[in-house]
Amino acid sequence: MNLRGKTVLIFGGKTGLLGQSLTAALKAAKAKPKPLSSRDCDILDVSAVSSVLDKYDADIVINAAAYTQVDLAEEEQELAFALNATAPALMAAEAAKRGIPFVHFSTDFVFRGDKTEPYSVYDEPSAYSVYGISKAEGEKNLLSLGYDNTLIIRTSWLFGPGKINFVAKILSLCEQRDTLTVVSDQIGSPSYTPDVSIHTLQLMEADATGIYHIANSGITSWFGLASASVSLAAKGCSVNPVSSSAYPTAATRPKYSALDLSRFIKTTGVTPRHWEEALKEYISDTILDAS
Ligand SMILES: NC(=O)c1ccc[n+]([C@@H]2O[C@H](COP(=O)([O-])OP(=O)(O)OC[C@H]3O[C@@H](n4cnc5c(N)ncnc54)[C@H](OP(=O)(O)O)[C@@H]3O)[C@@H](O)[C@H]2O)c1
Repeated sequence: MNLRGKTVLIFGGKTGLLGQSLTAALKAAKAKPKPLSSRDCDILDVSAVSSVLDKYDADIVINAAAYTQVDLAEEEQELAFALNATAPALMAAEAAKRGIPFVHFSTDFVFRGDKTEPYSVYDEPSAYSVYGISKAEGEKNLLSLGYDNTLIIRTSWLFGPGKINFVAKILSLCEQRDTLTVVSDQIGSPSYTPDVSIHTLQLMEADATGIYHIANSGITSWFGLASASVSLAAKGCSVNPVSSSAYPTAATRPKYSALDLSRFIKTTGVTPRHWEEALKEYISDTILDAS
């Protein structure tokens, strides 16, 4: 599919971390992105979703909206399931009625984390947390709907411009403290939102459907990501590793959730750059530029 001139509705596109980069990437590709927030359209309201699709005469629908507060989801199960499990298939059904592509985002947190090598698109989800279970249920409902023109992209550990994220939080904490402790026994694939967005467009241009993984290349721990951020931003605070058992959270996160990118690489012929290269760009273009 050629994206040039296509009207692309992006739920979560106005205020979401990933949605904002998707909007920018679509603009750069000469598509016509229509970014939306929950104020413009509540994805829990199917008739509002239907009206907005008609209003903009959308050619493509992207769902980058979700319930993303991993720990709070343990308390707000109903809302997490409504947004992450139920809404996506209802939105896809509206896209199906109009015969237009539906692109949805999911997460590495659908996996339990007991593997020691990257999770493939063929591995079965088996999350512990409400967030992960609700996102896995969203994928399952989309697959059960059976609308062929659906692309589900699992991504992980997002950082990028436009909204607070792990890297920005670490660097801001460095302004207030001399020492930070960060968990070193959770391993995953950091992903720069402008890179995830460009790679999403590459899959759309290749008419890809089904489940794909997109992340930057390379694997690290939260401690590794924090240390690299502090060092690249030349901040004078020290980062120390700590085990997750010393830092209990409401939701159980996977110990290991690195994503295998081979399906993406095979389909597009593109290998995502290493997360450290992307982090360098984020810090110089967004963090240091703003300070
Ligand atoms: N962040 C990560 O590290 C990460 C990792 C892996 C996968 N993902 C997945 O990537 C996708 C994007 O995540 P993100 O971190 O970019 O999300 P985010 O920054 O938390 O943004 C969520 C978006 O959803 C919108 N939204 C929430 N409730 C809504 C509703 N009822 N109706 C319409 N819009 C609603 C929000 O709009 P308002 O601001 O108007 O509420 C916001 O734009 C999600 O599917 C997430 O599961 C994220």
